[in-house]
Amino acid sequence: MKSQELQILSLNAFSDATGPMAPDVAALVERRRRSFGAGSVLFYDEPLRIVRAEGAYLHASDGRAYLDFYNNVPTVGHCHPKVVEAVRAQIGEFNIHSRYLFDVAHDYAEKLLATFPAALSNVVLTCTGSESNDFALRLARKVSGGEGIVVTRTAYHGNTAAVTEVSPSSYKTGAPPRHVRMVPAPDPALFGNDVAQGFADAVRAEIAALEADGIGFAGLLVDTIFSSDGVYADPPGFLKAAVEVARAAGGLFIADEVQPGFGRTGEGMWGFSRHGVVPDIVTMGKPMGNGYPIAGVVTRPEILSAFCADFGYFNTFAGSPAACAAGLAVLETIEEDGLIANAARVGRHLDARLKRLQARAPIAAVRGAGLYVGVEFGTERGPAPEIAKGLINGLRHHGILIGAAGRYGNVLKIRPPLCVTTEHVDTLVDAMEELLA
Ligand SMILES: Cc1ncc(COP(=O)(O)O)c(C=O)c1O
Repeated sequence: MKSQELQILSLNAFSDATGPMAPDVAALVERRRRSFGAGSVLFYDEPLRIVRAEGAYLHASDGRAYLDFYNNVPTVGHCHPKVVEAVRAQIGEFNIHSRYLFDVAHDYAEKLLATFPAALSNVVLTCTGSESNDFALRLARKVSGGEGIVVTRTAYHGNTAAVTEVSPSSYKTGAPPRHVRMVPAPDPALFGNDVAQGFADAVRAEIAALEADGIGFAGLLVDTIFSSDGVYADPPGFLKAAVEVARAAGGLFIADEVQPGFGRTGEGMWGFSRHGVVPDIVTMGKPMGNGYPIAGVVTRPEILSAFCADFGYFNTFAGSPAACAAGLAVLETIEEDGLIANAARVGRHLDARLKRLQARAPIAAVRGAGLYVGVEFGTERGPAPEIAKGLINGLRHHGILIGAAGRYGNVLKIRPPLCVTTEHVDTLVDAMEELLA
């Protein structure tokens, strides 16, 4: 089966030109190949050269505006003036590392922590989601005394050495090490009506397998919208049983909010809250600074103290005044622009339109919450990644950007900036309808 599975970072990757490219694009592709070599990953059969962005649109060198249903980092809208101005003003005033006092760090930390359950009252600022998950693993291992981590089969949690081990979707060959165990995504097609019980049983079985191999259990790490697995959101609350199993076995629950966090589900700020659980550790990143690199880990004070008794932790760029200014502007804009309510309202419209389309297209499922939606393509012969790939490139030529996820790359992943409108959704679904016909 592995040969049919896709690595999340290879989905929709450009390899060789399948048709003529504009001369400016072809020249940049060539320069990129020379400088970045085998590490270069570009999107689309015909890559896009971006020249500017605004709101829900990216503008390319071909003179077209592309409606962005792919990028969840510019969550409050590309180049939102409030975020741009906050960063510009702070960098113009001073920007240093975090071993000095500056007010904006505390204005930000307090506002961020106020969005969490009271028990989660400490934050460690980092630069990337990967760094956050790396730190979370260290916290969980310190507090539990174990090494073993349970993750989902197509999880992606980042790129450090330790975090790659817990990101099965990163492996092009081979598999995670023995102290990392995989459970299937919480898929009703696999677990039936009781996803909660089925998923919890799968977690219990992997914890037992770790222990049978003499590896202590440290924690359960999941992306609470299961994005790279193909987006699994329902029924709300299904995660609770698995979290209870993890805790009963002495492990911690790490909620990776890099994808669903900051209001995307339309039901509050954090994906875990839909499941009625309070994590031991929460990691976040991507949308946190609307494109300015800022990420973080939120946890209980005693967990952080236990780690700090053994190690120091410092990162030169994390929690800089400019990063905190960006983060604060994002939180304020989510409130001022009513983006959580917008994610709920526009998300409902998207869900309804996709479900109407489902009746006329080879769509096996429409899943998600708010503005995080997965559309799974499949026929009686099984997963249909070729339909997802065809749509991604077809939509690009219609002026719409989108991506895919899932074990077989057959799930269209819809996660636009939270400022999109119902008219934008109509543009997307009309184009999908036309292409699928
Ligand atoms: C769920 C999840 N966690 C962590 C990460 C890693 O974040 P970063 O790329 O900022 O290191 C990603 C990145 O795609 C992600 O999707």
